[in-house]
Amino acid sequence: MVRITPAGLSSLATPPSWPEESDITMSVSRSNSADPAPSSDAAAASTDVFDDGVEHEQVVFAQDPASGLRAIIAIHSTALGPALGGTRFYPYTSTGDALRDVLALSRGMTYKAAVAGLDLGGGKAVIIGDPALDKSEALLRAYGRFVESLAGRYFTACDVGTFSPDMDLIGRETRYVTGRTEAVGGAGDSSVLTAYGVFCGMRAAAEHAWGDADPAAVLQGRTVGVAGVGKVGRHLVGHLTEAGADVVVTDVAQGAVDRVRDEYPHVRVVGSTDELVASALDVYAPCALGNALTDQVVETLSARVVCGAANNQLAHDGVEKLLGEAGIVYAPDFVVNAGGLIQVDDEREGAHGFDFARAEARTARIYDTTRVVLERAVSDDVPTAVAADRLAEQRMRDVGRLRGIWLA
Ligand SMILES: NC(=O)c1ccc[n+]([C@@H]2O[C@H](COP(=O)([O-])OP(=O)(O)OC[C@H]3O[C@@H](n4cnc5c(N)ncnc54)[C@H](O)[C@@H]3O)[C@@H](O)[C@H]2O)c1
Repeated sequence: MVRITPAGLSSLATPPSWPEESDITMSVSRSNSADPAPSSDAAAASTDVFDDGVEHEQVVFAQDPASGLRAIIAIHSTALGPALGGTRFYPYTSTGDALRDVLALSRGMTYKAAVAGLDLGGGKAVIIGDPALDKSEALLRAYGRFVESLAGRYFTACDVGTFSPDMDLIGRETRYVTGRTEAVGGAGDSSVLTAYGVFCGMRAAAEHAWGDADPAAVLQGRTVGVAGVGKVGRHLVGHLTEAGADVVVTDVAQGAVDRVRDEYPHVRVVGSTDELVASALDVYAPCALGNALTDQVVETLSARVVCGAANNQLAHDGVEKLLGEAGIVYAPDFVVNAGGLIQVDDEREGAHGFDFARAEARTARIYDTTRVVLERAVSDDVPTAVAADRLAEQRMRDVGRLRGIWLA
């Protein structure tokens, strides 16, 4: 066991009461998933924040005992600009699990922002607790003060367990917040442009797979399976329907299925993700949780294209290679699901407030970015996920380097 001490971390709480040793013991086994992981086995090999966050610039532990706030803010990189990423409010079973999640999520944000061509770095935050029980004005505002204390190195936004009205409360304590409600000049629900971006990326991937000349018609008549019809999936179904695709959906929540069926009565429904994956599909769109693409799923899929909103779709290193070998065009998740980030970035930098049309036009460029990634994968003879990583890293080097030019 290795104890994480405040010594190398940027601590903002005064004085923090650091978690007990057992709370911060983490398994070194790395999951590709940024979705909440089960509690680590305390008997497993352990590591500390410096090992797991070896690429990270800064990790801040913040707490306010009076409101019950316990949060971790992770800044992975500010090479291209201030770190931006949502705040996940989740009942982690240990501080170690929360830390592992925030480190993985913040790294993903760096790559997403870089590929999307944004002047943003990567960061993310987690609040440890059950949002249904623990969320309060005082807790959110206490959190907002810690965000403010980072002086703009980190901007927050919505994520699992946090919503635009929460950002409004956080915004009463900090300027460094996005995803607020439209009533206060914010960008509102980011899933609208996330879904649009996935749709744009899907058109590019379908064109790559089938070589159709007209990208506007490339999804017409194709069977597209959408797993998870929550906020993003539902909007995606709308775009697909408009494009003339034959849409099949599944969701574990009956309410989500009913809502889609009410809006789009012709959409077909299957009972589970396994059933969807095993059915005849042209395109598979994972829009629920991470780890959607396992060896078994790749083996089973008939789809020629995989393109969806879910973060961290590849269940482990090596699945990207299997997808390529199976002749499946995989549009990397962080390339195609950047629309929400583009949306909240517009709120951050718009001198006169958020402009939906401008953000939508920027999101449409995900079509071009996806094409570049897929073409680079061919020219470099690497999986598409590797090509996307290379593109992000190249931009961080080329553009991040410019910070070295001294401006008086
Ligand atoms: N909302 C955004 O702007 C945004 C941006 C980038 C990435 N994402 C990612 O996209 C995914 C969807 O986000 P969302 O905002 O729509 O979330 P959401 O919670 O609104 O929707 C997810 C849906 O998936 C369903 N689901 C959960 N487990 C399932 C399973 N095993 N099989 C089928 N359905 C299942 C849920 O019932 C829910 O309806 C998440 O992975 C999220 O991290 C979202």
